[in-house]
Amino acid sequence: MPDRSPIAGRDVVTLDTFSPEEIRWVVERAQRLKREPPGAPLAGRSLAMVFFNPSLRTRASFAIAFRTLGGTVIDLEAGRDLWPLEFREGAVMAGAADEHVSDAARVLSEYADLIAIRSLARGLDWAQERRDLVIVSFQKHSTVPIFNMESVLDHPCQAWGDALTLTEALGPPAGRRLALTWCYHPKARPLAVPHGVSTMAAKLGLHLTISHPEEYALDPGVLAMVQRTAEESGGSVRLCEDPRAAVEGADAVYAAPWGSIRYHNRPEEEAELRLRYRERRVTPELMARAPGARFLHAMPIRRNVEVDDAVVDAPTSLVVPQAANRLHVQRALFLSVLGM
Ligand code: CP
Repeated sequence: MPDRSPIAGRDVVTLDTFSPEEIRWVVERAQRLKREPPGAPLAGRSLAMVFFNPSLRTRASFAIAFRTLGGTVIDLEAGRDLWPLEFREGAVMAGAADEHVSDAARVLSEYADLIAIRSLARGLDWAQERRDLVIVSFQKHSTVPIFNMESVLDHPCQAWGDALTLTEALGPPAGRRLALTWCYHPKARPLAVPHGVSTMAAKLGLHLTISHPEEYALDPGVLAMVQRTAEESGGSVRLCEDPRAAVEGADAVYAAPWGSIRYHNRPEEEAELRLRYRERRVTPELMARAPGARFLHAMPIRRNVEVDDAVVDAPTSLVVPQAANRLHVQRALFLSVLGM
């Protein structure tokens, strides 16, 4: 790969738009940045972050990464800092929205070198939801690169950080076995993390086993892309309902809770259905089926509901270094997208 950034000027919305070589190039750059103090190459540059939903890790890692490289960050929260936005093209704006996303995106592009958006599901039916209207609208109308800080469909910066964490823990990830296992959560959590992790695993040639209750399948379009990508990279994807069989012999176990697409616009029925699986959490007994396997989770974690304390706090758990790697990958991504 070249010394110059191969991803200059690109949007970071899904790993699907990056080649395995580009993903590895950024991971290697993040490893170098961990060892070498970066200085202040982003002096005079600015990042505008827009949050439609809460965040700890993403908000902190984006802001601290950009500021410690010398740049300026503005953090805008929808519902508090922004005018209510209209997303429909050609809308007669006589309702609650005061500003069209096309105007907001174009104006922010005048102030900032990068725009980053977090926008999760909005309670629509899945066919509409999966269009990821908020991030796609910002992509369409902004004139600077867009970072996805977690959308309905994807969480690419989490997945890129996870690629760094797996590389550090296991060496080159190609050929390693990763078990992605659904766990119970009192709320229907987004599908962005399992989608992002699956895409990353497929790109990097891992052997991925995905385990979930029958009604909790990933988005069929995303799964088809993941299967196609795994074939191209020499990896594989296996679906396995039984979590015990799924983790057998894994090098790493990645736990994530997510909601049911099938019941997406029927939240009460989905909550009742999910309760049937409330015993499905990651325990030391489950981890014992993969001796020595590393444990990952994107966090936040509902301890002793999703995952037992004994797993989260075990020496094999990577959850804190995994969260820490968000910062290092973010520094590498900002510099690389800005062509530095
Ligand atoms: N993993 C992650 O994105 O955490 P936050 O929701 O706290 O940003």
